Amino acid sequence: MEAFLLRVFLQQIHGWVNCFGISGGRIPMKERTLAIIKPDGVGRKLVGEVVKRLETAGFDIVAMKKIRMTKGQAKGFYRVHKGKPFYESVTDFMSSGPCIVMILEGEDVIARYRKLMGATDFLKAEEGTIRRAFATDIEKNIVHGSDGAETAAFEIGYFFSELEAVG
Ligand code: CMP
Repeated sequence: MEAFLLRVFLQQIHGWVNCFGISGGRIPMKERTLAIIKPDGVGRKLVGEVVKRLETAGFDIVAMKKIRMTKGQAKGFYRVHKGKPFYESVTDFMSSGPCIVMILEGEDVIARYRKLMGATDFLKAEEGTIRRAFATDIEKNIVHGSDGAETAAFEIGYFFSELEAVG
């Protein structure tokens, strides 16, 4: 628990430092993020393709497991989106089949993994991104990644205990 809190604290400081532009906003620091291969990616047997891209990018997979969320668990996970038009639909989708959840670690991994995923809307995703290559829909967009340090701490804690993050 203490190690977890220390990590959250360090990630928060890292965020502030970037925010104030100290050192040009770039201090190389290891951080962690949550990655999900969504039910469309698992159902279409794209797990290997996605993992290969993560490893090629140099990210360390410090934890990984297959889960199936209930509708209630999906709602809890996406609670920041409660009230948005897609909330019911995306939580139906995320509880429609198994997902692969992973903790990725690396320098600047939150931003770098988001770049590798591409835009939420695959039609706007850059060439070479996971969503551009495989997504079929703004909702069925293959992968998820935390959007910041605080979100990463919440999302990692949603699926993993400290013991499961083996490094
Ligand atoms: P994700 O990055 O996991 O974050 C929230 C998810 O909701 C998003 O990917 C999509 O799966 C879904 N989503 C976001 N915006 C929309 C939208 N405009 N229409 C449908 N689904 C969306």
